Order: sequence, then structure tokens, then C-alpha cells
Amino acid sequence: MSEHTLGALADIESGTASRFEVDGVGIAVVRIDDAVYAVADICSHAHVSLSGGEVWCDEREIECPQHGSTFDLTTGEPLALPATQPVAVYPAKVVDGQIVVTVADDAATGNTAPSGTVTS
Ligand code: FES
Repeated sequence: MSEHTLGALADIESGTASRFEVDGVGIAVVRIDDAVYAVADICSHAHVSLSGGEVWCDEREIECPQHGSTFDLTTGEPLALPATQPVAVYPAKVVDGQIVVTVADDAATGNTAPSGTVTS
């Protein structure tokens, strides 16, 4: 596991997602107010970037722009068809205004630890 500082929280508008690459793996970082969430950027249904999708702030979900499946930002679980498999979730936090995401050494597997923690 290693932590990666991806940039300033202020660079992401609340209610939107941005794509980052960590060790060759695409990660969609979502900001909702002062909390951040990080999930795999590729939909589990097809090879589509989730960071291009709409963020549902109240539900803490992101909607795939291709077919409309939504994914829980805290668990990665799909909440609407056609996707049936979860996407990886990465622990994410804000430290001194910077977004920090923890990625497993084998980043492709991710993990299901909760994200959205703000420590300062
Ligand atoms: S590609 Fe995401 S739901 Fe089909």
C-alpha cells in the first residue's frame, strides 16, 4: 500500500469527478463538499471512464455515462443495471488541502476500505 498525493482539492469542483493515473491505473476522484472518494475509473460493465459520469451527491454515487449504472462511492457496488460487478474503491482523504489516495501495490485489485475521510 502506498499513498499518492494527486493534487489540490480546490482544483476539483464539488459534485464532479476527475481522472488521475496512479501506477498506470486510472482512478476517478470524486469531490462532494470537503470529502473525496476514489474508485476505479473504468466501469465494470464495459471499458468506459466513470469520471465522465454524473455525481449524485446526496446518494454518494457516480453514474456511468454509457448505460447509466450507478456505483456506491464508498463500496464500489453497482446499484443499477446493467453493471453487476463492483469497481475497486481506494481510501482517499484530504491532507492540508491535498487529495491523498492509498493504492495497493497491485493497484488493479484495489480494496473496499471506506473513503471520504477528511483529516484536516
Ligand atoms: S459501460 Fe457502464 S453501465 Fe455499461
